Amino acid sequence: MTPLQVGVLVSGRGSNLRALQQASSTAAYRVALVVSNVADAGALAFAADVGVPTAVLPHRAYPTRAAFESAVTEALRAAGVELVVLAGFMRVLTPVFVGAWAGRIVNIHPSLLPAFPGLDAPGQALRAGATVSGCTVHLVDEGTDTGPILAQAEVPILPGDTEDTLAARILVEEHRLLPRVVDALARQRRAAA
Ligand code: GAR
Repeated sequence: MTPLQVGVLVSGRGSNLRALQQASSTAAYRVALVVSNVADAGALAFAADVGVPTAVLPHRAYPTRAAFESAVTEALRAAGVELVVLAGFMRVLTPVFVGAWAGRIVNIHPSLLPAFPGLDAPGQALRAGATVSGCTVHLVDEGTDTGPILAQAEVPILPGDTEDTLAARILVEEHRLLPRVVDALARQRRAAA
């Protein structure tokens, strides 16, 4: 079975990319390309270390969001990408991109959606006085963190938690959940083909 070719979009340190890449040797997917909109993202150094192709597409270099997104789509298509994973990709995508990859974009978000969408989800959960949070993997639609939920993992919020301690505890679960869901999607797609 040919592994599903996954394109990972990143903006930062790339710990979820690392988890995806490390799990891929025994999974039904391969990371075919890492695209970063940030030139010095830690994720790029990791990808280079393990020999995964990268593309750096700084969004500010493009006159419009549409032009940036077309460049991303072009790079993904050129690499034969079949599924797009947003792993700490901090740009909102327009309907143009979402439409081009309809049903084929997944995102990992550090809260139990629909609670606490958007930026700083662990901080939002703490400020709201929540006693449990977690992470969500969902399909991306045209809203912000609103698409159909594929899987979630709960994480308790402990007395004395700070944004950093909570985010770190959630991250451990993200690293388990994201590769599992991407592998399951890959197997479904190959079974349906
Ligand atoms: C992760 O916690 C991910 O859930 C979050 O950014 C972090 C990226 O970490 N994403 C969002 O908040 C998206 N709304 P990483 O670069 O180490 O994978």
